Amino acid sequence: MTGHDHIARDEQARAILRGNDRGGYTVPTAGLYPYQWNWDSAFAAMGFATFDMERARTEIDTLLAGQWSSGMVPHILFHGHDPGYFPGPEIWGRGRGPIRSSGISQPPVAATVVRDIWEADRPGGEAWLRAQFPRLKAWHRWFMEWRTDEHGAIFVTHPWEAGRDNCLDWDEAMAAINPVGVGDYARCDTSHVDPEMRPTKEDYDRYVWLVQRGRRLGWDDAALARDLPFCVSDPTMTLILLRANRDLATLGADLGEDISEVENWTSRLEGGANWLKNPELGMFDAVNLNSGVRTGNLTSASFLCWYGGLDDDWMLGALNTAFDVCRYPVPSQDATSRGFDPKRYWRGPTWAVMNALIARGLKDTNHVAEARRLRDVTRKLIASHGFAEYFDPMSGAPAGGGTFTWTAAVWLAWASPSAGGE
Ligand code: SER
Repeated sequence: MTGHDHIARDEQARAILRGNDRGGYTVPTAGLYPYQWNWDSAFAAMGFATFDMERARTEIDTLLAGQWSSGMVPHILFHGHDPGYFPGPEIWGRGRGPIRSSGISQPPVAATVVRDIWEADRPGGEAWLRAQFPRLKAWHRWFMEWRTDEHGAIFVTHPWEAGRDNCLDWDEAMAAINPVGVGDYARCDTSHVDPEMRPTKEDYDRYVWLVQRGRRLGWDDAALARDLPFCVSDPTMTLILLRANRDLATLGADLGEDISEVENWTSRLEGGANWLKNPELGMFDAVNLNSGVRTGNLTSASFLCWYGGLDDDWMLGALNTAFDVCRYPVPSQDATSRGFDPKRYWRGPTWAVMNALIARGLKDTNHVAEARRLRDVTRKLIASHGFAEYFDPMSGAPAGGGTFTWTAAVWLAWASPSAGGE
């Protein structure tokens, strides 16, 4: 990108955030995702923080207002009703929170974004932080109570909980589910986006079957925990929560809170992250807890090790390979693997938002050159191909939804030359 081209891109990115703002919360993109999604919203706040700090704080406030009494923060908050999305509130049921919602969570990026917002504007944010801290802590406690395996890794009970809906990590666990009685339903996603870029019907039958089952059990954690048909320990969740928990401890210390419980969680999560480590295969992989099978599958989630605070030099080799093989890394699925599908959602495409997290981890663990390289390639990708939901790692072709909130947000906060930083 030359000269002042990025100024126009910055303006487009801000216009996307404003255009996707529904008043206190931001939709990921109009049409395909017409509600408030959990980690999308945390990124939206990161983007707003570059030009409207008050709006950034409101985004987090609105997200955490959907918290259930168990501490769980749902992955979708249905503030209204939009017939263009399936499965909507009528499928998930009433749930257990103050706002209609889904019954599962999503990667907890929020504490990290809250820390960024706080550190960028302490005087304006203290009352706000004091209100968010106990909510974040209760949410992290819920993960430790209901989603931690015996090693300290976080498992997911639905592929949507990990945010990486159709990645290969779930294939074995998904194949073990027989979605009997799921019935007829009409998907909406494939009317918004090319079906080749979305999960298959086999996947959707199981997604919907798991939702129907959760609803029958009233989304009661104890009832669900007795038998989880889908239960996979996941590097995304484990490494993101590990990072978020370290940030939560910093926030607690700033507020003069007792942070011993949070620090204990960090130690447990470090144990879990180390258990997901697979140096022989050169990755952090997922483990299907129902079968005991390690996936042996390299995804972009592996590269969150640095974001989680683990300095694993041996992962740098795999990162270099991704740069060698792809014009626009990091692919969500190893591009040299048989399962790689460059346009199908989490089975190959590059997600700018994952790149932002990976680069942040690289920078924090002193891999500054690699962090800069990843930022530069992502800058080029967005500058040439726009604010798509995800991109073909080989050609850069935009895929999925357009005018996407989190791609615009990471442009403003990280990829744009105006974002500064190294
Ligand atoms: N990502 C899922 C969807 O595509 C739900 O979180 O609808």
